[in-house]
Amino acid sequence: MDKISTKQKTGLRGEIEIPSDKSVSHRSIIIPSLIKGGKYRVFNFSKGKDCISTLNLYKNLGIEIKYLDEKTLEINLPDKLTNKTKELFCGNSGTTMRLTSGVLAGQNFISVLTGDESLSKRTMKRIIEPLTQMGADITSENNTAPLTIKGTDKLKGIVYNSPLASAQVKSCILLAGLNADGKTTYTENFISRNHTENMLKYLGSEILTETTDKYSVTVQKSEMKAKDIYVPGDISSAAFFIVAALITPDSDIILKNVGLNPTRDGIINVAKRMGANIEILDKKDLSGEQIGDIRVRYSDNLKSTEISKNEIPALIDELPVIAVLATQAEGTTVIKDATDLRNKETDRITTTVNELKKLGADIEEREDGFIINGKTSLKGGAELNSYKDHRLAMSFYVAGLICEQDVLIKDFEWVNISFPEFEELITRLK
Ligand code: S3P
Repeated sequence: MDKISTKQKTGLRGEIEIPSDKSVSHRSIIIPSLIKGGKYRVFNFSKGKDCISTLNLYKNLGIEIKYLDEKTLEINLPDKLTNKTKELFCGNSGTTMRLTSGVLAGQNFISVLTGDESLSKRTMKRIIEPLTQMGADITSENNTAPLTIKGTDKLKGIVYNSPLASAQVKSCILLAGLNADGKTTYTENFISRNHTENMLKYLGSEILTETTDKYSVTVQKSEMKAKDIYVPGDISSAAFFIVAALITPDSDIILKNVGLNPTRDGIINVAKRMGANIEILDKKDLSGEQIGDIRVRYSDNLKSTEISKNEIPALIDELPVIAVLATQAEGTTVIKDATDLRNKETDRITTTVNELKKLGADIEEREDGFIINGKTSLKGGAELNSYKDHRLAMSFYVAGLICEQDVLIKDFEWVNISFPEFEELITRLK
């Protein structure tokens, strides 16, 4: 489905509730699946297709999941996971496939994890290698899906120094570690999102974290207890509204109940450094996560910035929309050390650069990121390919709000992967 984004002639105004966080929604089913029996509820579960892939997959592992209303789940955990079907489909979702590999490595049955066209091209080497070191039996062609996992109850703990700061790799290893003999320690150079660690603590698991010049987590077999989980609003979804309000003259919006986990809030820190008018209104703790309201106002004096190294993991998914923001900042914005952006649903370095150029942005591709010269008045009047990548589709829609001429975005329905409510909510602010 094509979508046209047109110039927004009035400010975006109003207050909206940001829908459920994708990462926490996945984990609200995947992590408790390791608990032997129990009943709990998940409040504010995501309606995005990725999370529905997780939900359906875990039903096929013997977990009973019932909707109490459109966003509340009641979950009944079996004493042991079973494979009702051998093939388990993960759709477009890398998180489902990588975290579930960690769960399945320690089960006593064989399963085959499959994905859609995009997911089947993404490398799984980053999880196959450490899981194999733990004694897991995984076969695949070229380290991509389908992955055949022959589970075992003989996994052993390892010490793993990850070459990447990746929450998916970290979570996969920690979940396998919960079924392994001995301790499992995972270390990364910079901390990636820590929702898994937060949820493990919340559910009562023994877990130790340490930050020196690097970040380490250690887990071992330990009892967890099923407990109700409240999922915060997704800061990665909020990011589209944050940028939209910052670049659309006369905007003043409030985004309610957004997850403000410090390993996810990079976009707020970077935007503030660029001169953005952003205020956090009300902060509280919920199910082991921080949550709050964000007020964002149009900011006409944005300055360029450099984003690199330790800052990348906390905003990796926001980089395409940050590129849009940088087109409206005075000076040269440099984004580097973000090579892993090439391994997302699409190669988000090439795709972002190619498409924003079509709108008139002054943006250049680098091996590990991009460079943007601003401030540019975007002309638009182009047809943009979303490459069936949800975050690109929404980033281009936001860019369209400040283009002189209409922007047509191809395959816009892919926003449903993480944020089916996007269009309804942006329309409410117009
Ligand atoms: C995610 C981790 C990140 C992120 C993805 C969700 C997660 O991936 O890009 O959208 O929920 O753990 P990496 O771990 O590959 O960086």
